[in-house]
Amino acid sequence: MSVLAALLSRSSTKQIQGPGPSEHELQQILATAMCAPDHGRLQPWRFKLVRGEHIAYLADLAVDTLQAEGKPLEPTKEKNMRDWLGRAPVVIAVASYVDHSNDRIPEHERMLATGAAVMNILNAAHALGYGAFWSTGIGTYTQGVPQALGFDALEHEFLGFVVIGSLSEPLVPKERPALADHVSDWQPNI
Ligand SMILES: Cc1cc2nc3c(=O)[nH]c(=O)nc-3n(C[C@H](O)[C@H](O)[C@H](O)COP(=O)(O)O)c2cc1C
Repeated sequence: MSVLAALLSRSSTKQIQGPGPSEHELQQILATAMCAPDHGRLQPWRFKLVRGEHIAYLADLAVDTLQAEGKPLEPTKEKNMRDWLGRAPVVIAVASYVDHSNDRIPEHERMLATGAAVMNILNAAHALGYGAFWSTGIGTYTQGVPQALGFDALEHEFLGFVVIGSLSEPLVPKERPALADHVSDWQPNI
């Protein structure tokens, strides 16, 4: 698949199953994140890999933490999350490191760099034939889940999870927005 064909055919999916990417493929996928644009070379992206049986612990952690912090999941949502994660071979937890000693590059630029790193991961996973989905479910917006993953809230903006696996169903091409709705030419007012 050409690079452009991969970029144009990627779409997010939760229809995944094992096996996940091989160790070599996972290293390739993660290596693409290191190629993200990055003002000031701050390399703010941080990833924690959650694999195999540890994924069930992550699901329990999210459910228990949401409950403890007064945001319990509805039973259907809990079941859907557990079913999805139960089929996932690898989950990548994503955070952006906030370097308080650097006030030259605004924090939103660091988060954009981390977002671009995640985009590379999504595209690389797709280019290798895997399905992936970026989610800020799974207890992202709790105190306990990022903390338990080692992302101290004082130092990190926690940005959720990328779940990757083999496609259990072929990707259905998505209709994408018309360029004209999003792109226009600018002309100077002369
Ligand atoms: C930062 C971020 C967080 C997201 N979190 C969720 C989420 O929690 N639940 C969800 O259904 N979609 C979420 N999405 C959207 C999906 O990842 C996906 O982009 C969307 O379903 C559209 O699919 P597409 O990527 O094929 O266009 C999130 C997207 C981003 C960029």
